[in-house]
Amino acid sequence: MQILKIEGGTRLEGTAQLVSAKNAVLPILAACVITDQPVTLLDVPDILDVENMLGILRELGCTISKDGKAVTVCAANIDQEKLPDHLAKLLRSSIFLMGPLLARMRKAIMPFPGGCEIGLRPIDLHQRGLESLGVVFHDEGGYIRCDGSHMRGGVIHFDFPSVGATENVMMAAALTPGKTVIHNAAREPEIVDLQRFMNACGAKVSGAGKPTITIQGVKRLHGATYRPIPDRIVGGTLLAAAAMTGGTLDLRNAPDDMGAIVAKMRDMGCEIREEIGRTILLAPKRLHSFRQMQTQPFPGFPTDMQAQMMALATMADGVSLVMENVFENRFAHAADLARMGADIVLSNRMAVIRGVPKLHGTTVVSRDLRAGAALVIAGLAAEGTTIVENITLIDRGYERLEDQLAALGAKIERVEEMNGQKQYD
Ligand code: UD1
Repeated sequence: MQILKIEGGTRLEGTAQLVSAKNAVLPILAACVITDQPVTLLDVPDILDVENMLGILRELGCTISKDGKAVTVCAANIDQEKLPDHLAKLLRSSIFLMGPLLARMRKAIMPFPGGCEIGLRPIDLHQRGLESLGVVFHDEGGYIRCDGSHMRGGVIHFDFPSVGATENVMMAAALTPGKTVIHNAAREPEIVDLQRFMNACGAKVSGAGKPTITIQGVKRLHGATYRPIPDRIVGGTLLAAAAMTGGTLDLRNAPDDMGAIVAKMRDMGCEIREEIGRTILLAPKRLHSFRQMQTQPFPGFPTDMQAQMMALATMADGVSLVMENVFENRFAHAADLARMGADIVLSNRMAVIRGVPKLHGTTVVSRDLRAGAALVIAGLAAEGTTIVENITLIDRGYERLEDQLAALGAKIERVEEMNGQKQYD
């Protein structure tokens, strides 16, 4: 088992370059199944979730080739509609294949998806959205059989703007006869990127980024070469790491959709300059509390940055209040931050963090992808040595996070854990 070992107390300084966003790449990889022609994606991050998605595509019969960070997927010969259970359980985003398989084959057999343990994460919105297109679902003991033999355009009103459900319906509707309209659609930048990708392949999708998306079904999609948007969450995490150490960061290939994150960091006293494709942060010696933060669907504050901001709040001057409105169980990092000396009180979906002058290093466990990143950030500023265990979860969404941080001067390394013994308890 591998761990991250961090010696805290070094000020980060330097330049970092972002690659494509995990949450843009995963649905786009799934969408490759809709066409029988090759698709090449550029700047694809070398992360575990992408590896797992490529593994699933291979088992469905796709051919995959890589040339550096360019990945080519060809689904000409897909011969299965059933997702391999062992891979699907590793990756919640495997659910994104439901829409593309229905578009291409008019059927799909899906195991219930896996992924981070952050709340219940049901798939009812995906199912109800697809039912509006005429899909019929049968529950078959751990599997869902999806029958799309009578699919046609439909109108969907989502109760909540789910990112995954919006994407699934967009992809399913691409080759479905007639017009599909999604009301209360998610507006995340990754939705806009999926629309741009699908249209580059010949789909007719409009409205992404607004609450109503329209898809006019076409007969087939063709291949394309496409560069997905840069990762605003990796960008935010690196900015937070620099801010935690009173450092500076020049973020290159920075997306223009980090407004909510940048605003909160400014509230904490960081000076931030935004140019096209570039965000430059200069942190104060000690951060101020951000007072209040609520996670919300885009353009609100992203839940995927909540844990990292909580790490910042642990050492900021003053009291910060965090409301987690998107997932019902996303404070797994709070107990570990408290083990490092943070003063945090939790009540349902609310956390109150009173900033302390210092944290101390200890052994902590990454309990989900962003929780793990938050612990690393805390470790960068803590006194002494922090050991972060269970880093496979961090590898799901960050390309060797330790190398990116070490390049900025952090004292962090990946080591094999001795005897496989856990050092906490
Ligand atoms: C995506 C992102 C994830 C991010 C989240 C919210 C990817 C690969 N993952 O996840 O990083 O944290 O958006 O921005 O893009 N829900 C239901 N029923 C459903 C679907 C969702 O109740 O059928 C609930 C979820 O339990 C959750 C909320 O809706 O409480 C948001 O989920 P959703 O927007 O669907 O997130 P994901 O697509 O899973």
